[in-house]
Amino acid sequence: MLAMNFRGPFRVRADRDKPYPEIEHPGDAIVRVLRSCICGSDLHLYHGLVPDTRVGMTFGHEFVGEVVEIGSEVQKLKVGDNVTVPFNIACGKCAFCKQELYGNCHEANPGATAVGGIFGYSHTAGGYNGGQAEYVRVPYADVGPTIIPEWMDLDDAVLLTDVVPTGYQAAEMGGIQPGDTVVVFGAGPIGIMAAKCAWLFGAGRVIVIDELEYRLDFVKKYAQCEVYNFNELEDPVVFIKKTADSLGADVCIDAVGAEAAGDAMNTLMGRKLLLQGGSTTALHWAINGVKKGGVVSIVGVYGPTNALVPIGNVVNKGITIRANQASVKRLVPRLMEHIKNGVIDPKPLITHRIPLEEVAEGYHIFSMKLDNCIKPVLIPPSA
Ligand SMILES: NC(=O)c1ccc[n+]([C@@H]2O[C@H](COP(=O)([O-])OP(=O)(O)OC[C@H]3O[C@@H](n4cnc5c(N)ncnc54)[C@H](O)[C@@H]3O)[C@@H](O)[C@H]2O)c1
Ligand SMILES: [Zn+2]
Ligand SMILES: [Zn+2]
Repeated sequence: MLAMNFRGPFRVRADRDKPYPEIEHPGDAIVRVLRSCICGSDLHLYHGLVPDTRVGMTFGHEFVGEVVEIGSEVQKLKVGDNVTVPFNIACGKCAFCKQELYGNCHEANPGATAVGGIFGYSHTAGGYNGGQAEYVRVPYADVGPTIIPEWMDLDDAVLLTDVVPTGYQAAEMGGIQPGDTVVVFGAGPIGIMAAKCAWLFGAGRVIVIDELEYRLDFVKKYAQCEVYNFNELEDPVVFIKKTADSLGADVCIDAVGAEAAGDAMNTLMGRKLLLQGGSTTALHWAINGVKKGGVVSIVGVYGPTNALVPIGNVVNKGITIRANQASVKRLVPRLMEHIKNGVIDPKPLITHRIPLEEVAEGYHIFSMKLDNCIKPVLIPPSA
């Protein structure tokens, strides 16, 4: 079948000879992919920053499709169902899944004690092939997938696999109180959705910081927020403190992760010399810009390697840090209601529709932030 194939950092291609996935366990399903996005998280793989990303792997943790085969134990799905599949692979039964911590399943990735299983996200996250392909194997098919209702657009459904729940959980973990000033770092799909959702939790003011003007323009209109280009601020931390009653923001959200720009030393240490696990510039700004007693919510991805953060400021300011991979399955029912009622309209984030055959071009455009790209979706020929 046709599938994206990782050849090494900055090199991906579409291959036609990837074997079709098979049912390997009676709880599996095989899904024919109808839409599959490229995510900011895929860029960490593409840039060679995630340990044990193996040549030959197919990425893609954001996909929707039609069930074409089910294992003998699958009860909730039938052939012909269209499903939205969370990016997390979760068993549904372990101690963590029982707490609805589906991003932290203890069974789906037996090789790791931190991250759970994720489709198409290196052997660090379980070694599962992803959905940037014509077909994909979905383990624990009775746990993750949700049948897409008739009324729902597939473009909305594919953003329910990651972007919408992750943005929502970023706001939720901020513990936003009515009237709070919330600062979101990053105006990628995740930051955009976090800004939109911050209002649902009662924010009084939402500020988004990035350096890409086209994204700031988009989020300003889409999430009705204030936007600032960090290159035009003398010091983002001083700016945040000043603008928020000289105290600092109530809540800061890191929707950037380990490839943050904005500080030459951090970029050199973390992204060029690899002396620490990525660049922590956005996280520094979040910790230093939040008020004493405030909350920093981290959804930006950081790998397993250590990275320098101003932990002394966390302690001395009494900051609460909350962080996780989004627990997609937990949030899907509520977010479907929000989409149905028009509270959240995800599909305008999709700026590019790219045939799966042109996946290399898709990665290049999204990675280089060309052509005003916010979110690219790959369409397989068989869709
Ligand atoms: N926790 C989760 O469950 C989860 C899920 C999906 C994505 N993520 C992570 O969220 C992050 C964002 O994902 P995305 O798809 O929006 O990625 P993206 O690459 O499209 O967007 C990142 C944005 O951050 C901006 N940026 C860079 N440095 C910055 C800084 N110092 N301050 C403010 N903005 C800065 C970039 O210009 C870019 O617009 C990534 O790290 C991704 O891996 C986490
Ligand atoms: Zn993603
Ligand atoms: Zn589990």
